[in-house]
Amino acid sequence: MTAQYQVHGDIAVITLDNPPVNGLGLATRQAVTDGLAKANADAAVKAIVITGAGKAFSGGADIKEFGTPKALAEPNLLSVILAVENSAKPVVAAVHSVCMGGGLELSLGAHYRIAAPGTSVALPEVKLGLIPGAGGTQRLPRVLGVEAALNLIVSGEPVKSELLAQLPGQKLFDRMAKSPESLAEEALAFAREVAGKHADGSALPLVRNLPCKHPLGDAYFQFARNMVRGMAKNFPAPAKCVDAVEAATKKKFDDGMLFEREIFINLMWTPECRALRHLFVAERAASKIADVPEDTPKREIKSVAVIGAGTMGGGISMNFLNAGIPVKMLEMKQEALDRGIATIRKNYEAQVKKGKLKQDKYEQRMALLTTTLSYDEIRDADLVIEAVFEEMGVKQKVFEQLDKTMKPGAILASNTSTLDLDKIASFTRRPQDVVGLHFFSPANVMKLLEVVRGKATAKDVLATVMALAKKIRKTAVVSGVTDGFIGNRMIEQYSRQAGFLLDEGATPQQVDRAIEKFGFAMGPFRMGDLAGNDIGWAIRKRRAVEQPELKYSATADKLCELGRFGQKTGAGWYDYQAGKRDAIPSKLVTDMIEQHRKEQGITPRKISDEEIVQRLVYSLVNEAAHILEEGIAQRASDIDMVYLTGYGFPMWRGGPMHYADQVGLFNVAEAMKRFQKNPRDDAKFWEPAPLIRKLVAEGKTFN
Ligand code: NAI
Repeated sequence: MTAQYQVHGDIAVITLDNPPVNGLGLATRQAVTDGLAKANADAAVKAIVITGAGKAFSGGADIKEFGTPKALAEPNLLSVILAVENSAKPVVAAVHSVCMGGGLELSLGAHYRIAAPGTSVALPEVKLGLIPGAGGTQRLPRVLGVEAALNLIVSGEPVKSELLAQLPGQKLFDRMAKSPESLAEEALAFAREVAGKHADGSALPLVRNLPCKHPLGDAYFQFARNMVRGMAKNFPAPAKCVDAVEAATKKKFDDGMLFEREIFINLMWTPECRALRHLFVAERAASKIADVPEDTPKREIKSVAVIGAGTMGGGISMNFLNAGIPVKMLEMKQEALDRGIATIRKNYEAQVKKGKLKQDKYEQRMALLTTTLSYDEIRDADLVIEAVFEEMGVKQKVFEQLDKTMKPGAILASNTSTLDLDKIASFTRRPQDVVGLHFFSPANVMKLLEVVRGKATAKDVLATVMALAKKIRKTAVVSGVTDGFIGNRMIEQYSRQAGFLLDEGATPQQVDRAIEKFGFAMGPFRMGDLAGNDIGWAIRKRRAVEQPELKYSATADKLCELGRFGQKTGAGWYDYQAGKRDAIPSKLVTDMIEQHRKEQGITPRKISDEEIVQRLVYSLVNEAAHILEEGIAQRASDIDMVYLTGYGFPMWRGGPMHYADQVGLFNVAEAMKRFQKNPRDDAKFWEPAPLIRKLVAEGKTFN
């Protein structure tokens, strides 16, 4: 049973009860229709209230049923709403807290609605690449007016009930309750009132019978379409929202419903919708660690210390200040602290200027920030994050010092992007307290946080930092210890391919254009110029010693030898004009690449955009398959989250693993085998990873 049925005097109350948000799963839907039947058969009952238990009226569809036959099994949501409409006794929906998606659609089937103030009202289907599929696009415009309804439907964003109640002429809420606490009582009273009103057998009001028009008619929808098309980019659903709402103004109600249904079903199978649904599930999965149960006790994090006030230290600090957690930054010299503070101030001031941050909030945040040159002053911090130079020797000194000074139970984190976390942990006598917190630059902006789990990292430390990540609004993904962790280990293969493509005949701008057309925010060469080409240079120098068999195109080294580190030096793969970020193709670089080919005796060939995209994306996929097999990543969808939130992989393609699944792993493996034959390539790398071969043989996918 996932809904309760109670009778209070002459009113039956059906309470959705399917935690956490009363999702409208099959059992709940059945319970509602059963309740309606029971109430209608009971002569003592005069009216019916539908409400929700706990923290929601209803959040809509039950995500556990996504993609399963249960989602559409009868009574499906459309049938439930029809049963509500057809109830001979008046039905009052009493909504509170969360009234979204199918929950809102259900309430629109009721004859009357009463809302608690503070209720978040939304039709968020568009965020999953869909439109509302149970009458939302047909009924909401009838109660809110076309413009307000379309805004809710296209944005998917919640609006508070008290705001909606103020819209002139709105019929969404017949009544507002005084408070969430009084809703239940007021709903009963309201139900009695409408029971009295219809005691004479007068017809019950139905939203479907309300008129639906926009005074500007076709012109309005043309405007809306123009606006939406620009914003929707590659996603088809937003424009379909406009079509569906327009149909509400033009078609008979039942025809409009069919039209909505048809759009809904068609969208369901689009790659964009699949990608967004995948993302929705992946996001929730990423926060779970298989052997760390949700009820693992957590350590309390009330204060944070950050070692190193450079690029990363400053950005990392801002995350905690934004969440109201005090931060103390430690450096070796006062000048470094002053520089760090100045940068943080500059960042906040830019936000104030843009109107994104209020002056008083800015001051509150800065007041939480203090600095020190002494370890003694940070000893009581609950969490310390090290962000000093990327050198093992420097990290060793810092961690030995932390081990000496920090209070017992403090979490010791490193922001290292490449160094061995287990080694870092070994510099302390408390490796169980050491964890990697790999932020991405700019650390106050980028969503991704790789949580690096060392051999000894304690479970409660992991549970604590995963919860903390949520608090500072990061998408945390757990990675095992490996060079580059999940994201950078994969990107290295991608960069290698980008380099080989230059050797073989492509230009940086061709490569960037092809992968940007595929949807990446930025191609590898523009990205290198932004991040600094010297970073990769340092890594390649290290590889030359540690892994001499790993080959790279020499073009990137030659570029660095010319001092072209990217935007910060005014030149990289592209030329830059002072103060501007536009990448201008560089004759010097083109000549350098051509010269390099000559020296290597390579005859350039024409390379198709398709090959560029396949080589770049499948290099990610192949490396990721190794990472999965080695247990470095917990699940394929975690890898997708890393790429979607940290590397600009196109959202509507759902991440490299999801994309490979959609292309078909057989096809992906075949392409890899083709690349193996390419004389300029390292055949060994393109050997499809054993996991891919296994999945192909079993006809399975990553996700
Ligand atoms: P940075 O050079 O901007 O800042 C390092 C800061 O640490 C400097 O202000 C320096 O004075 C200070 N420092 C050095 N040794 C110290 C010590 N013994 N005690 C106290 N302070 C000390 O470097 P950045 O870019 O902020 O990198 C820091 C760490 O973050 C490195 O481990 C790096 O690999 C990692 N990282 C960097 C990313 C990036 O994009 N820059 C991205 C992710 C991680």
